[in-house]
Amino acid sequence: MKPAMSSNRLDIRPAPGLMDTLDEQPLDPMLMVLHLLRSDPRPNKIDLGIGVYRDNTGCTPILQAVKSAERHLVETQTSKDYLSPEGDAGFVAALAPIVLGDGIGGETIWGMQTPGGTGALRLAAALLHRTNPECRVWIGTPGYVNHAMLMQAAGLEVVDHPFFDKPSQTLLFDAMMSALHEVRRGDAIVLQSGCHNPTGVEFSHDQWRDLAAFLNDRGVVPVIDMAYQGLGAGLDEDAWGLRHVLDHVPEALVCVSGSKNFGLYRDRVGALWVQGTNAGSVRRARTNLNLMARTLWSMPPDHGAAVVRTILDTPALAAQWRAELETMRLRIAGLRHDLATAVPEFETVKTQSGMFSLLPLDRDQVTWLRIEHGIYMVESGRINIAGLNEGNLPVFANALRSVL
Ligand SMILES: Cc1ncc(COP(=O)(O)O)c(C=O)c1O
Repeated sequence: MKPAMSSNRLDIRPAPGLMDTLDEQPLDPMLMVLHLLRSDPRPNKIDLGIGVYRDNTGCTPILQAVKSAERHLVETQTSKDYLSPEGDAGFVAALAPIVLGDGIGGETIWGMQTPGGTGALRLAAALLHRTNPECRVWIGTPGYVNHAMLMQAAGLEVVDHPFFDKPSQTLLFDAMMSALHEVRRGDAIVLQSGCHNPTGVEFSHDQWRDLAAFLNDRGVVPVIDMAYQGLGAGLDEDAWGLRHVLDHVPEALVCVSGSKNFGLYRDRVGALWVQGTNAGSVRRARTNLNLMARTLWSMPPDHGAAVVRTILDTPALAAQWRAELETMRLRIAGLRHDLATAVPEFETVKTQSGMFSLLPLDRDQVTWLRIEHGIYMVESGRINIAGLNEGNLPVFANALRSVL
């Protein structure tokens, strides 16, 4: 007779493990849209959800300048040896004038490569926490969902302040400034320069001036995020606020993404600059950033940054990239104009810029658009303008009118 062991074994239930202590997490709202979109069999569904640029055929193209730079790299690259936690210094040097302009530089500002804008934000948060664990980070609402999560991931406390009123589509500058009166010296604030995600609104030059003076006066460190440079009003204009703030505060962190304006989303291209009061403080920040990058991702991926460096260091490719970026920018501006003309109730879409607008729709209207018309957007009403095209814009406009 066989021992009863085998059946006993079946009876043994494993004790709860570490993973059993975890709470189930909700899907990110963006991934939720993607999931629903992918399981919708309707051929004419319209994707205005995920934040990637699309051309008139609905594709997210690889830029010609990128293709040429990649060919050049394949032919000439001789090693895939490690670089360093700081990444490709040539990439940072080539990008600096585009981001910072010609007037900002010297030994009180220093930059490094990061895995995307997300990496730059995460590292900026880690640095803030290291300099001042009590630092609270002010973030405007509605804002980019990942900002708060990234700051909290580094152990920082997040405080909301008003930024935008969805029903009236207005930037709440006065309400924001009055909320900011509660800041403490050493707090930080996340600001987006150009093409605000999710609202598409931008501070006026006067508002940037007031804000910079206030931050300087109250000792608040700006963390300036620029993820869509060149897709709003142009490369220099989108960076106007960023450059003005850097000129008027002693310390700041600048987080940049190359995902959208170089179309290098999956290659994870980004950079972080730190501005300090003197060369010594920037050097100290640099050594700390190196150490922290080492424990977060060790070294950033090389390929995308090498592509950007190659483009910017080759005058013909740089000119081609600027032209391709301008084509994307103008297409988005044209779609904004066409949508506002087709649905005059949403005429503010025309005054906003960049890839996103936060339409004054409630959750029921968004759900209705999805179920009845196969139109996908984030639950908040955020749409990716670049998801529109000649074919689907009239369909979207009709559907919008039907829910108003
Ligand atoms: C406002 C903002 N900041 C940062 C990022 C992060 O960009 P990346 O994909 O380069 O990490 C995004 C991406 O959507 C964004 O919208």
